[in-house]
Amino acid sequence: MRAAWMRCSPARIVAGMTTITLITGGSRGLGRASALALADAGTDVVLTYVSNGDAAASVVAEIEARGRRAVALPLDTTAPETFPAFADALRAALSATWGRPDLDALFMNAGYAGDTTFGSIERADIDRLVAVHFTGVVLLTQQLAGLLADGGRILNVSTGLTRNPANPAYSVYAAVKTAVETWSLYLARQLGARRIAVNTIAPGATATDFAGGGIRDSEAYRGMLLPTVAMGRIGEPEDIGAAVAAILDPRMAWVTGQRIEASGGQRL
Ligand SMILES: NC(=O)c1ccc[n+]([C@@H]2O[C@H](COP(=O)([O-])OP(=O)(O)OC[C@H]3O[C@@H](n4cnc5c(N)ncnc54)[C@H](OP(=O)(O)O)[C@@H]3O)[C@@H](O)[C@H]2O)c1
Repeated sequence: MRAAWMRCSPARIVAGMTTITLITGGSRGLGRASALALADAGTDVVLTYVSNGDAAASVVAEIEARGRRAVALPLDTTAPETFPAFADALRAALSATWGRPDLDALFMNAGYAGDTTFGSIERADIDRLVAVHFTGVVLLTQQLAGLLADGGRILNVSTGLTRNPANPAYSVYAAVKTAVETWSLYLARQLGARRIAVNTIAPGATATDFAGGGIRDSEAYRGMLLPTVAMGRIGEPEDIGAAVAAILDPRMAWVTGQRIEASGGQRL
């Protein structure tokens, strides 16, 4: 008799076939680390970039060096009018590289920080954050839902700041990430009939280019953050990559509609 996790896993994974994950913003930071962790776990990757084609090509090369296949495609997630053409390009890449009409997981990661100081918040500041962290996520998911295999996965990215209003500069950013958490709950219910699990990962402060690279490069900022992390160090992209690969593991196929914080216990 098969183990419970095998009975509820995507048929493709049970059959030992290649799985493919699409990662938006896979050229740097958390997306890149997740791409490499997934490759180490035996998954092939389609990654997107908006401006750093060379960085994306390097990630593809790193994945191939691990014996997996990868493709990089350009995508601006704030430009929904381009999503139909992106879906066509994705379909063509899946067919040419894997001989498949679909993929197994979407990791909606692309994004950036945006400071907003109460008293001087402009409408354009809000619109920019909503465009990348919410509108793009919703409309791209809708566009690609037909390319996602039944039994597949969707993982969206939130932030620890939705639960801890630690830094007033991130009020709008965190509020928009809260919208993604709620969106993920509704999507989990909507796609449950297709056995598609939808979850949210909420990283704590992690050393990437995010927010001008301050979490990685500023000793003063790191010194301020350090006492807030129960595990006593600042998060590295590899910490989040490992968590993403674990959440997308076939043994997690029964977990859906959850917000999973990966922060080393920040601000517990
Ligand atoms: N680092 C943290 O502390 C932290 C904590 C919680 C949540 N997060 C969230 O995690 C996600 C990734 O952050 P990160 O730290 O990895 O940031 P990062 O190092 O700055 O990387 C951002 C990635 O997103 C892509 N991107 C940016 N704008 C885009 C757009 N309009 N369309 C498509 N792709 C776009 C970039 O592509 P290019 O390379 O082509 O520019 C890059 O691959 C974001 O959603 C962020 O809000 C980060």
